[in-house]
Amino acid sequence: MSGQSLPAFWVLVPAAGVGSRMRADRPKQYLQLAGKTILEHTLDCFLGHPGLRGLVVSLAADDPYWPTLSCAQDPRVRRAEGGRERADSVLGGLSRLIELGAREQDWVLVHDAARPNLARSDLDLLLSELADDPIGGLLAVPARDTLKRAGADGRVLETVDRSPIWLAYTPQMFRLGPLRRALVDALAAGAAITDEASALEWAGAAPRLIEGRADNLKITRPEDLDWLRQRWSAGR
Ligand code: CTP
Ligand code: MG
Repeated sequence: MSGQSLPAFWVLVPAAGVGSRMRADRPKQYLQLAGKTILEHTLDCFLGHPGLRGLVVSLAADDPYWPTLSCAQDPRVRRAEGGRERADSVLGGLSRLIELGAREQDWVLVHDAARPNLARSDLDLLLSELADDPIGGLLAVPARDTLKRAGADGRVLETVDRSPIWLAYTPQMFRLGPLRRALVDALAAGAAITDEASALEWAGAAPRLIEGRADNLKITRPEDLDWLRQRWSAGR
């Protein structure tokens, strides 16, 4: 960090997914990890931060789990309407942030509910590196393994150059107005939007890649949660 103060920011946590790849009895953000739900750990990554202006969680309309969590009563945490796709849930959250007083040029950090292992050092790195950036960017990790392109028969077609390939993580940090416009326009055009950066890219912007820790993993499959449980029980 260059010693400058970190910018103020809002946080938007999309948490309206069903977690189909996790094959659990409930959406993965409500599974237990070290005595709390994954979603509570994820919110804890931000709630103590001095730059936080407010936090919105986008939830499915019929979500029966959220009201049972103590953070549902936290005045710093507000609920928004989730949608069919992740981008719809993010748009619902952005509308809620505007209702709460967020302005066009305010920074918004979008962070997956299923990434409870975000290090404070990575959050502060993202904030400090992008504080003066005209566009914004995201935490990301360079590809480590050798990459193969597969043919239709499941056999290797070729080995792909790994050097320019990065894995997109979250938080993704953009200014509210440009992010919202990019999402609305990209969705209206039928573009495939899998993260916030891809909406900005569609709009012609080049988000910055900030190298983060590989252990800020998204809990996607059962073995991811097993790994994190073991890691945390061994001490963080
Ligand atoms: N998400 C959301 N609204 C959706 C879909 C996803 O808010 N309509 C959220 C998820 O809750 C999660 C994040 O986006 O925090 C990343 O999505 P992903 O890991 O794909 O979660 P799920 O869609 O729930 O899982 P799966 O794809 O395995 O069903
Ligand atoms: Mg999904």
